[in-house]
Amino acid sequence: MDRIRIVGGKQLIGSIPISGAKNAALPLMIASLLTEDTLVLENVPRLADVGLLQRILLNHGVDVMLSGKRPGDAPYDGQTVKISASNIVDTTAPYELVSKMRASFWVLAPLVARMGQAKVSLPGGCAIGTRPVDLLIMALRQLGAKIDIDGGYVLAYAPNGLRGGEINFPKVTVGGTHTALMAASLASGTTVIENAAREPEIVDLADCLNKMGAKITGAGASRIVIEGVSKLNGARHAVLPDRIETGTYAMAVAMTGGDVLLEGGRAELLQSALDTIEQAGAKISVTNKGIRVSRNGAGIAPVDVTTEPFPGFPTDLQAQLIALMTCAKGTSRITETIFENRFMHVQELARLGAQIALDGQTATIAGVEKLKGAPVMATDLRASVSLVIAALAAEGETMVNRVYHLDRGFERLEDKLVACGATVERISG
Ligand code: UD1
Repeated sequence: MDRIRIVGGKQLIGSIPISGAKNAALPLMIASLLTEDTLVLENVPRLADVGLLQRILLNHGVDVMLSGKRPGDAPYDGQTVKISASNIVDTTAPYELVSKMRASFWVLAPLVARMGQAKVSLPGGCAIGTRPVDLLIMALRQLGAKIDIDGGYVLAYAPNGLRGGEINFPKVTVGGTHTALMAASLASGTTVIENAAREPEIVDLADCLNKMGAKITGAGASRIVIEGVSKLNGARHAVLPDRIETGTYAMAVAMTGGDVLLEGGRAELLQSALDTIEQAGAKISVTNKGIRVSRNGAGIAPVDVTTEPFPGFPTDLQAQLIALMTCAKGTSRITETIFENRFMHVQELARLGAQIALDGQTATIAGVEKLKGAPVMATDLRASVSLVIAALAAEGETMVNRVYHLDRGFERLEDKLVACGATVERISG
């Protein structure tokens, strides 16, 4: 298993290209199941999760073609993926594949919408608490699917196709909204989604579906209306930049000090996080090339933050913010409201000398003068990167073990940091 060795204490100076968003690329790839034609996705990040989803799609008989580097491509240019689901040979997504990545459960909606049936294993995925799928199932039932759960599998039937309906989510759910959008696009009649998730990745999926011929209005607001169509076409769509990667590197710069341009980052995708980072003492400016983050001299100021659905502070940046606050001049409070068990990084940060007390869903962080390097273990994707941020500022050497979690969501993390002057090295084996 690979490890990452970091020697802390260097400021980050330079520029970091922001990759396409993992959380948009995965549902977009899954949307290819809705059409017989080819869906061409550009700016797809080179990540382990993309490779895994490719395997899952291959299992359904989908052709996936990844373009290699072309002359003139910059080292970080995203890849173009051509996906053709002209012939779906198997509507089952087996446990062995779905258990490796939670998002693959979302194949349920396009498969039942287009093929009239699907059998998909209940998911596994990140170890961040119970992550139910009841609302995804509720959404499909509202559109007329008959659903049974048997032997760890969800079996969905709609032999005569789905029909439009009212879907009122009792809780904001990104996965539920993706499911509803994909299913309703091919249902007969009108679907109204109330209390829809407003995340940028939802808007990106709706944009792509509309290019494929869907009739979706209101994506980005809480009420989305979908006029079902009988068939969707191919399309070409570029994945939006990764707001979580952008926020992560912005916090890394706030942590170490320095000056970095986050190339291609879009401020409107993470305004609440940028506001928090500014409040913590970093300077943020938006240019036509991206977002520039710097911190000179002044220390890190404490903040009180609660995670919320978009446009609030994202749960996917909670671990990174805790890492940043470990060195604040004062006490911070960070409350997690989306997932009930998303504090695994706290114990590992404590190994670096952080002072964090947990009380239910709130972490109280008493800033310390300095962190000190130590061996630590990555536990989930965002927790892992919080350890990297802390290690970049810690005195001495930190070895982050089990970095396969990082490879699921951060493209060439060590290269991007090294280019800004950090001492980071991957040790294979
Ligand atoms: C969530 C985050 C998303 C993040 C992703 C990966 C929110 C609203 N969603 O999306 O930003 O990128 O994790 O970390 O911040 N729920 C149910 N039943 C369901 C589905 C969800 O009760 O059927 C609950 C979940 O337990 C959770 C909340 O609804 O408390 C939001 O879940 P959801 O948005 O669906 O999760 P993801 O799609 O994984």
